[in-house]
Amino acid sequence: MRRFTIDPGNESWRNSEDFRAAVTAIRNGLLVAVPTETVYGLAADATNALACASIYAAKGRPSFNPLIAHVASLEDAERHGVFDERARKLAAAFWPGPLTIVVEKRPDSPIADLATAGLQTVALRVPAAAAMRALAADSGCPIAAPSANRSGRISATTADAVIEDLRDSLAVVIDAGATPVGVESTIVECVGPRPRLLRPGGVPTNEIEAVLGETFQAAAPNDTAPTAPGMLTSHYAPAARMRLDAKSVRPGEALLAFGLPLPPGSEQAMAVENLSESADLTEAAARLFSALRRLDATGAKAIAATPIPRTGLGEAINDRLRRAAAPRPQENAT
Ligand code: TXA
Ligand code: MG
Repeated sequence: MRRFTIDPGNESWRNSEDFRAAVTAIRNGLLVAVPTETVYGLAADATNALACASIYAAKGRPSFNPLIAHVASLEDAERHGVFDERARKLAAAFWPGPLTIVVEKRPDSPIADLATAGLQTVALRVPAAAAMRALAADSGCPIAAPSANRSGRISATTADAVIEDLRDSLAVVIDAGATPVGVESTIVECVGPRPRLLRPGGVPTNEIEAVLGETFQAAAPNDTAPTAPGMLTSHYAPAARMRLDAKSVRPGEALLAFGLPLPPGSEQAMAVENLSESADLTEAAARLFSALRRLDATGAKAIAATPIPRTGLGEAINDRLRRAAAPRPQENAT
């Protein structure tokens, strides 16, 4: 495994031998861990079915769960999917950035059926993070990349967290430090008569609705026929039990706090992580997954999480916490 560090603010790495090695690895069907602005991705050539199969194998992900294809521009995205007026509006407003748009897949798109899990739609994203865009542009391949974590576990926002989960599967790891947004992209489907929100994420729902000029229908999570299979109820699961909307800390619990003051019982918590002392939702999103990983590593049996407002990025944060807290009948989430 080759690991190297890049400065996200200075693209001189693009001509480095290290980055060329990452591009070559993608062309050769190998797996590369790549930072995006949301979370780290486990990247492979989306047109190479074998490479996509090795993503599923590395993650231990059920094969019905389709992958997002990352591309460098809207023009590239339109080679793979059919963009109607709504999809174009969203792309113009939010790309590059943490929005994934699900559209009808073009029959002549070279993206492997395994990457889209046999669906007639394809999820496309132009990320803000330069490394992922450069990888797509320089390899000439759309890049299939799920979050770089074992299936059902906490998403990775640092290169160390990626390596902890996936060490044996990676040819190259690109380290750009902690990812700035910290929760995955928002997913919007522009296929039927009305756009649907499939997953809340890095772009707040109300900002998307404002651009579309219409509101979303509520999408009900359904474990047997997932529309965005990442909507499987149990997801992002730490080993510890999660207790949400906690007003106090019970003996033996670790604390995931938001804002100050800390709740009663905090003094005897096994460990404390405050997502944002100033109750800032953007800061909290950026810290969420690494804080969960650190609390889980303490071996606490349970993690008490204080309430977090549901506005703006709070919707995505609450969504992830609910899934982390859900009962875990099977190990079958992304
Ligand atoms: O921020 C992100 O979106 C990160 C970074 C790496 O880009 N990626 C990510 O991928 O979160 P993943 O695989 O963990 O989640 C992708 C979600 C899954 O829930 C999957 O079911 C859904 O996208 N998805 C992919 N293709 C779809 C499609 N054609 N229709 C509906 N949902 C789709
Ligand atoms: Mg994921």
